Amino acid sequence: MVDSGLVCSCYSDEQSFSKSLKKCLRKSSCLEKTEKMAKTLDIAQLGDPILRSPTQPVTDLQSPRLQTLIEDLIATAALGNGVGIAAPQVSRGDRLFIIASRPTLRYPQAPTMAPTPMINPEILGASEALVQDWEGCLSVPGIRGLVLRHQWVEVEYCDRQGQRHQQKLTDFVARIFQHELDHLNGIVFLDRVECSHALMSETEYQNESLPGAKGARSVLWPST
Ligand code: NI
Repeated sequence: MVDSGLVCSCYSDEQSFSKSLKKCLRKSSCLEKTEKMAKTLDIAQLGDPILRSPTQPVTDLQSPRLQTLIEDLIATAALGNGVGIAAPQVSRGDRLFIIASRPTLRYPQAPTMAPTPMINPEILGASEALVQDWEGCLSVPGIRGLVLRHQWVEVEYCDRQGQRHQQKLTDFVARIFQHELDHLNGIVFLDRVECSHALMSETEYQNESLPGAKGARSVLWPST
């Protein structure tokens, strides 16, 4: 379902996810210096001009500044039950985001993968097929919107060691990538919602639209 290079083995609960996250972080020696310094950051909310400002390519890939920002982004996304977060959401202008898909209260069906920093990311190709699903955003709390995205995308990005990667992402992870890339270009998911009827409160979404929910009036999870 998702490129195997991007997906770690499954975690049964929050504790095992946390242990695995620390193990992943320790793989890089420079990370050990920043791990203790990781802190959660304030999340820019809709209306903040930073969310509408294009970002600049990262040139200091292995600098302590960038490594600390990556740690802080990972911690901030985890605290907010986010499955991704982009630098503008913490008021930074770097072309960088984290994809950290895992089942959370906000996204119980999400596949599990290690938090993956993607620096200077690009889309190389995309499926003609589009799929729609309800998206949310830490910068737009309390609202879900129905958004069309490419079902798969071929992407390129640098990891935190400066190594370039090319991968094919599919389904939910492809959706996260497209959502976060939009953030780097000053776009939020509300811009891609076709009309106000495709908006829903987070509470209504949780009660009525998740797979298996009592109401289940509009289950639009990616179909493949
Ligand atoms: Ni967002």
